[in-house]
Amino acid sequence: MKRHHWWRDAVIYQVYVRSFLDSTGDGVGDLAGVRAGLPYLKKLGVDGVWLSPFYPSPQHDHGYDVANYRDVDPLFGDLAEFDLLMADARRLGLRILLDIVPNHCSSEHPWFRAALAAGPGSEERARFHFAEGRGPDGAEPPNNWHAMFGGPAWTRTDDGQWYLHMFTPEQPDWNWRHPEIPAEFEEVLRFWLDRGVDGFRIDVAAGLFKHPELPDSDDPEADARTRDSVNPLAWNQPEVHDVWRRWRAVCEEYTARDGRERLLVGEVSVPTAREHAAYVRPDELHQAFFFDLLGAPWDADAFRKVISEAMRDIAGTGSTLTWVLNNHDQVRTVTRYGEPAPGGSGLGAARARAAALLMLALPGAAYIYQGEELGLPEVVDLPDDVLTDPVFHRTGSRARVRDGCRVPLPWSGQASPFGFTTGVEGVRTWLPQPDYFAEYATERALADTRSFWHLYRDGLQLRASLPQLGDGDGTLRWLDTEPGVLAFTRGDGLVCAVNFGTAPTTAPVPGTPLLASGPCPAGELPGSTAAWWLADL
Ligand code: NOJ
Repeated sequence: MKRHHWWRDAVIYQVYVRSFLDSTGDGVGDLAGVRAGLPYLKKLGVDGVWLSPFYPSPQHDHGYDVANYRDVDPLFGDLAEFDLLMADARRLGLRILLDIVPNHCSSEHPWFRAALAAGPGSEERARFHFAEGRGPDGAEPPNNWHAMFGGPAWTRTDDGQWYLHMFTPEQPDWNWRHPEIPAEFEEVLRFWLDRGVDGFRIDVAAGLFKHPELPDSDDPEADARTRDSVNPLAWNQPEVHDVWRRWRAVCEEYTARDGRERLLVGEVSVPTAREHAAYVRPDELHQAFFFDLLGAPWDADAFRKVISEAMRDIAGTGSTLTWVLNNHDQVRTVTRYGEPAPGGSGLGAARARAAALLMLALPGAAYIYQGEELGLPEVVDLPDDVLTDPVFHRTGSRARVRDGCRVPLPWSGQASPFGFTTGVEGVRTWLPQPDYFAEYATERALADTRSFWHLYRDGLQLRASLPQLGDGDGTLRWLDTEPGVLAFTRGDGLVCAVNFGTAPTTAPVPGTPLLASGPCPAGELPGSTAAWWLADL
């Protein structure tokens, strides 16, 4: 039955708070800005919002370095403002998910500061991974692991011991085998659940536990090389599943009290779809992002392969698939699919529109990253001196640097700040907005029925009203097509087809589509276009 469990086919909009909307005029987005933008999101038609971390933090990794898990950084507002945001979201029928970061904290977290102060062998240090170094005078790190963001995964303290950090040195990893850590996080969950949140996006959900002996890795550079959690000693340890079972139980406890289902969605990076499926067993996470679609090149066979594997290995277990094409760590689809320069009217934009319709037609849930609904391209020409991504500063590499997808959103007008901030004309946004952002402003997108925004809005409306879409009957049946074209049916008579090539092909069904990502004459499917039809098959 459609919408039985709201989260099974929810469409959630990711708000990167510092880049959404600024209410204070300092050039950085904030919670009051998010609140002001909620009606815009309601109009778009999403079911809920995931807020990137807004907790007190020295912002070495834009809030993924949390110094206090139970408060709001003054940069973004305060708890009273958060409560107002929750109240407005509830009134509008939008769910709110918070981003929780349990693998590591900030080196400014009071428990880490206490650990540094207490010295080797202390109970305070046992909450983290402190160890003696190797070699003469212990001057070599305790093992050969590399951090995901470059450099060794260990940093030496003044007293000679080392501590483990799988990301930056400002993000020490918690020791989840210490009983106070699971207990503390359970309290953090309850703190926010008591304030009314509808669930959590869990950062690095395949992390938390490391191999208990912290042995050397056979391929120590794998994590830094791929920027993915692939070191089998540092990630995906079996004990992590007990944590997700416990968190699920806490959510169920709240549901039993008030009937509102909560949602846990994990950022799960594991090598295979089969391992991924283990995270979404019925008593663990409700969802885990399926990043393989995001990682697939614009190619019909590649898309078909990842969708088929997901259907077999994940949907096959009865859990829900969780699709994502963009987020705050990845190059935006318009650029990734082939349009390095701004403009938005060429191939990359056409393909990004087609990919959106494909994603919204698949069984399961979907996540949209802010600006995706505007067709924003990646800002590829930010000068080095404005880049803030620690990956850039720790590796010196511009490859996959993450600032280009985090540039503040354009809302209106012809010049930066494009209505992003209440600050006076000329106020500097925390990352500079290029002049061409004028073309993508929400005001303009809303007024133009051919815009990305209208495509997303129309897709979301149909998805909400057609029983075949969303969770539907959970199935997808491939249709035979020419090479370079994918077509499938959902339930009773909904057909989605995508032409990955550039030349037109014959549509899989006659008649005018219900919705298409570009001009689509009856009986034809132009290149770089997706369409939905209702048909008697
Ligand atoms: C994944 C987050 O999406 C990313 O932005 C962050 O840098 C790392 N986890 C570390 O918390």
